[in-house]
Amino acid sequence: MKIVVLNGSPKGETSVTMQYVAFIQKKFPQHELKIVNIVPQIRQLASGGQAFDEVIETIKSADGILWAFPLYVFLVHSNYKRFIELIFEREAKAAFQGKHTALLTTSIHFYDHTAHNYMHGICDDLDMKVYASYSAEMRDLFKEKERENLLQFFNGFFDAIDRDASASKLYLPLIVNGSEYTPGTAQVAFDTEGQKVVLVTDAEEQHTNLNKMIEKFVSHFDVNVEIVNLHNIDIKGGCLGCIRCGYDNTCIYSGKDGFIDFYNSKLRSADILVFAGAIRDRYLSSLWKTFFDRGFFNTHIPALAGKQMAFLISGPLGQLPNLRQIFEAYTEWQRTNLVGIVTDEAGDSKALDQALQELARRSIAYGKSNYIKPATFLGVGGVKIFRDEIWGHLRFPFVADHKFYKSNGVYDFPQNNYGKRLRNFLVGWVIKLPVVRKKVYSNLMITKMIEPYKKLLSKL
Ligand SMILES: Cc1cc2nc3c(=O)[nH]c(=O)nc-3n(C[C@H](O)[C@H](O)[C@H](O)COP(=O)(O)O)c2cc1C
Repeated sequence: MKIVVLNGSPKGETSVTMQYVAFIQKKFPQHELKIVNIVPQIRQLASGGQAFDEVIETIKSADGILWAFPLYVFLVHSNYKRFIELIFEREAKAAFQGKHTALLTTSIHFYDHTAHNYMHGICDDLDMKVYASYSAEMRDLFKEKERENLLQFFNGFFDAIDRDASASKLYLPLIVNGSEYTPGTAQVAFDTEGQKVVLVTDAEEQHTNLNKMIEKFVSHFDVNVEIVNLHNIDIKGGCLGCIRCGYDNTCIYSGKDGFIDFYNSKLRSADILVFAGAIRDRYLSSLWKTFFDRGFFNTHIPALAGKQMAFLISGPLGQLPNLRQIFEAYTEWQRTNLVGIVTDEAGDSKALDQALQELARRSIAYGKSNYIKPATFLGVGGVKIFRDEIWGHLRFPFVADHKFYKSNGVYDFPQNNYGKRLRNFLVGWVIKLPVVRKKVYSNLMITKMIEPYKKLLSKL
């Protein structure tokens, strides 16, 4: 059978993900795996020439489609996202409808699930028959057990195509409430006490609600909020995945376009940072995705740490918990404080007025007191993945990360706590004595657990 592989790596076939595809091709020579490199040819695909139609014709001729892509900042690469937008824009859905499909990613398992959820939603929107998804750690191919796993997955996929197996959808179509926002006339402006507020957006003229939300929101600050539209930033292209930034955070685009200057001068100098965008398919626009990908020149260093962050979103975010999680996780691993996310989806102008005013008020108040709420699992778990990777496998090429992690206490391995280790060793032996065990695993456990807290409270 013929499987069309939609390659989502900027590196084309010189990519880690494509080595997994090469392995599958080797093991299943009876099937043809035809690779289409989407990311490097996005300009041609978007240009309106024949390139897009050719890809669609190739898709039509396939028995199955494999979306094979590396994880890029919680999702797919910005150009892959653009390709997805083009499918809907150019009404090419019919080519995908009813096709069997599977997802294959390589990553370090940092928010691989949000990328898979997103792509599964897109496949459901395209009425495809999703077999399943497979998230390989980028080094899995070197492990025999993982190779066997991968073969089983593809055996299952080919078999599902053969049997024309049924597939159930996971995601319902989005329902968009198109009601127009009419802002109230009341004027309340809060004293920012010298804090710098920067709002980044990709709003276009047709984004009426988003533009009105921005206007209303910024009116609540007694200073001029700096509004930067991503359309006005000179961005020459998406992230190339070259890791030139790994050594000292110097991007290959440095001096060639305006992105790095914009990021360093506008974003880094802000105390309150607001991102405003409209939902496009199940994420924001591919331009926003370019912003997030290109921000990777900071590698795994939380370059925005300490800032207050807020989001103004036009569109059905309530139906996209996956996207909400991406926003929450992004702000948490960056060690910023997510003040809130305000959307227009309820269609209630008065409530939206109040929400925007409250968001402005809280941003200022939290900024004044430098409040950063504790991270949840999203931030804590994510940072632990980075910590282990930068300590181990990824120390080279990410030299700058290692320096930063060392001098900022990110290497908080429990193994380094020698006092705790000694205590655990001794207690481990003592607890083997039945008489001690009986005493400890009794009421004593609960009272002993709070003893240090009691001591602390009596001192405070
Ligand atoms: C700019 C950039 C962003 C990345 N974002 C993520 C991410 O969010 N989560 C993750 O687990 N890995 C992330 N990675 C790691 C890649 O997904 C991983 O190295 C992948 O195997 C690369 O595949 P490729 O060679 O096919 O492009 C990122 C890598 C780069 C260069």
